[in-house]
Formats: sequence, structure tokens, C-alpha cells
Amino acid sequence: MRALVLAAGKGTRMKSKIPKVLHPLSGRPMIEWVIETAGKVAQKVGVVLGFEAELVRKALPEWVDVFVQGEQLGTAHAVMCAKDFIEPGDDVLILYGDVPLISENTLKRMIEEHRKGADVTILVADLEDPSGYGRVIQDGDKYRIIEDTDLPEELKSVTTINTGFYVFSGDFLLRALPEIKNENAKGEYYLTDAVNFAEKVRVVRTDDLLEITGVNTRKTLVWLEEQLRMRKIEELLENGVTILDPATTYIHYSVEIGMDTVIYPMTFIEGKSRVGENCEIGPMTRIVDCEIGNNVKITRSECFKSVIEDDVSVGPFARLREGTILKKSSKIGNFVEIKKSTIGEGTKAQHLSYIGDAFVGKNVNVGAGTITCNYDGKKKNPTFIEDGAFIGSNSSLVAPVRIGKGALIGAGSVITEDVPPYSLGLGRARQVVKEGWVLKKRKEE
Ligand code: UD1
Ligand code: CA
Repeated sequence: MRALVLAAGKGTRMKSKIPKVLHPLSGRPMIEWVIETAGKVAQKVGVVLGFEAELVRKALPEWVDVFVQGEQLGTAHAVMCAKDFIEPGDDVLILYGDVPLISENTLKRMIEEHRKGADVTILVADLEDPSGYGRVIQDGDKYRIIEDTDLPEELKSVTTINTGFYVFSGDFLLRALPEIKNENAKGEYYLTDAVNFAEKVRVVRTDDLLEITGVNTRKTLVWLEEQLRMRKIEELLENGVTILDPATTYIHYSVEIGMDTVIYPMTFIEGKSRVGENCEIGPMTRIVDCEIGNNVKITRSECFKSVIEDDVSVGPFARLREGTILKKSSKIGNFVEIKKSTIGEGTKAQHLSYIGDAFVGKNVNVGAGTITCNYDGKKKNPTFIEDGAFIGSNSSLVAPVRIGKGALIGAGSVITEDVPPYSLGLGRARQVVKEGWVLKKRKEE
């Protein structure tokens, strides 16, 4: 089985500089959904690109065969451009880059039906409002597909529509393609004409509107997004996750969440994120591409591309940037920003800190207002804080610098040199006390 994905169209109605098939649905480009599903049922996957072909090609996995259709002269012309992909001895599925939710199950049903013997197997649906779609008209054991624009008045009421998905026998398709003419209302080469030539047609039905919906406008895209969002929330509820306010919770389809985790309102969990069991996430939290263990609490915070181990607490008002690793039982509190740093087991940074390019050991206390000065104006430098160190409040650690195991940094220090293990590091002016100075001053005045 081969699968050919048509994706040459510009998507004019999206009113976008980005090719339509690259617009994201639940966090992934539409075409990625199709390629993934195609890869599950076919041994080889090909894609026909046109508008901004190079840009789309970059978003595709390497194992996909790419064909380019210079001018979009119709669906049959698009398939013609991938003629080399079609083998006489193999069947080929036709899919679309802008119909992202076609299901593996439906494709398998089509393949199974087709293997009973056919030139082509078509996927049809019955719609209350079939306008705009090609209609499938049965004539004894033959079928014809007539495009909406070419439909005579007496057939307008036919509600069985062509979804556009087909399985063709390779040899039949190779024979049919050169016969197709563009003598129709749009002057295009219609792939539906290949069906009209076929002797043996089989039909498979679907009643799932989501999987056959093609995206032509942003309105449809947002509608699909909402359908997927609600599907995901229902699936999570069924699997033991509490979502207190579905109306304000946005969880991408690819996200995994463990049992007994509670999601508070106004929370976004996106991309390839995984959340463990018994966590409390939100309210007002955004998590993107994070790996989160069990018993983790994250409140009113933003977390990007970070790893958060078991029993960690984050927030309120924390910001974890790319490359943050929070080891088991660490605590990150309010107004703490962390970037590309590892925070060791049991370590606490509870208030008002910036930690960047740092390696912080176990059971370190990072005092309020501690800043790693990681940027010298030219490059980023690392800070090392070894196990059990205590960083006094409002300290600046000027990187590169190393604070040894068990060392103590006096509050308000600016540390520019390494501090050896179990040593005191002080980097501030010594305090001066002038007794009675105020009274003396007043007398003078
Ligand atoms: C097509 C079917 C119609 C069916 C409908 C379902 C034909 C002639 N008609 O109509 O029976 O009901 O799908 O949605 O096939 N494409 C290319 N190159 C081209 C033309 C199209 O790659 O030259 C791609 C487009 O990017 C798009 C898809 O094929 O993703 C469908 O093309 P479109 O012209 O929109 O066909 P429809 O009019 O929707
Ligand atoms: Ca279309």
C-alpha cells in the first residue's frame, strides 16, 4: 500500500503568507497529522507540493517522497505529477494535506474493502447540507461523481458526497490518468473522472464529520481546534484526570496526563508535554513541551521545554525557560526565572531570582534576590553551586564562578571569585556604625 498526499494548493481563503498545510492544529502543522496517519497504513508515503513547496518540504520527515506540481491544474493533474510514485502492482491511497483528521480506522476499512477486488474504493458520507461537494450518484453497480459546479438541477438534492479519499489500484490509475480531460465548469483535471471510468467501484461510508472536514478558512480551522480540544478533555476526564473548568482549559491532543492529576482553570498544556500522576497544575499556567513527574505542583507559572521531577513545586509566578531541569523535591517560588540550568534535589529558590546557565547541586538554599550574572556582554558563562551551599539574599554571582560544597555566601555579596568548600564568601563593603552621629549633626545645624 502506498499513500499519496495532495498538498499543492495555496489556500487563498486562509489569507496567509504561510502555506495552508503548515497552519497548526492542536499544536502541529495540519500536514503532519496526515503524514502520521498515512505512515500507519502505508509502506510508502508521497506528497505533492506546490505553493511554497520548499517551506513545506522542510516540515516533512525525510522518509516521505516529494513531488512538485508547478501549476495547480486540478486533483488529477496533481496525481499525474507523482506518476512515478504509482506502481502497477500496488494500491494507492489518496489523501489531502488540508483534511487533517482522517482516521487510521477509516483508512483501514477502505483498504480492507478494496482488497475484495476493485479499481477504486471511495469514501463517502451523507450530509444534511451537501453543497460545495462532489455528489456520488449510483447507477446500477456503476458510480459517477459530479462536481457541485457541474451538477444539473435535478441532482442538487443528492446528499451522498465524495469525501475525496480513495484507494486506487495502481494499474487502473495509471491507465485512467491520461484519459482525463479538463472539459468542465472549472477547466480543471478532476481526479473524480478516474472514478467515472472505473468498472469496479466499492464504497465505504463514514459518519464522522471531523475526519472528512477540509480546512479552507480559518473559521473551519478554529472549529476543528475546538472539536479536538473537547475530545481531548473528555478523554482525560474518562481516564481519571480532573479538569475543573473545561471552558478555559486548553490541552493539545498530543499531551499525556496521569491519573488523579487536577487541572485548575485557565491552564494551557501544549506540545509534547507529559504530566505524571497526582499533580496539581494551574490555575493560570502555561506548559509547553515539558516532562513532568508525579506529585508536582505548578501554580500561575510559565514552563517551556523543561524537565520537572517528582515532588517539585513551582510558582506562583515562576518562569521556567528552555533547558531547565528541576530535580526531585526542589522548590521554585515566586518571581523566579530559570534558564538552561539544573536545580538539584531538595534545592530551594523561593523568591525573586534569576538563575541562568547554572548547575546547582543538592539541598542548596538560594536566597531571595540571588542573581547569576551569566552574560558578560559577549558570551554566556556558567555558574556552579555545589551541594549544601547557602547563598545569602540579594547576592550576585558573577559567572564564570564556582561556589564550593557547603560554602556560605553573605547576604548582599557580589561574588567574582570561586569560593572553596565550607568557606565563607563575602563581597560587600564592611558596615560602619557612627554612634550618636544624627544627634551631633542636628546640633551643628
Ligand atoms: C474535491 C473533489 C470533490 C470532493 C471534495 C471533498 C475533485 C475534482 N473534486 O473537490 O468531489 O467532494 O474534494 O473535499 O477532486 N490540489 C492540489 N493540486 C491541484 C488541485 C488540488 O494539490 O491542482 C489539492 C488541494 O490542495 C486540496 C485538494 O487537492 O487540498 C482538493 O482540491 P480542491 O480543488 O479544493 O477540490 P475540491 O473542489 O474541494
Ligand atoms: Ca477543498
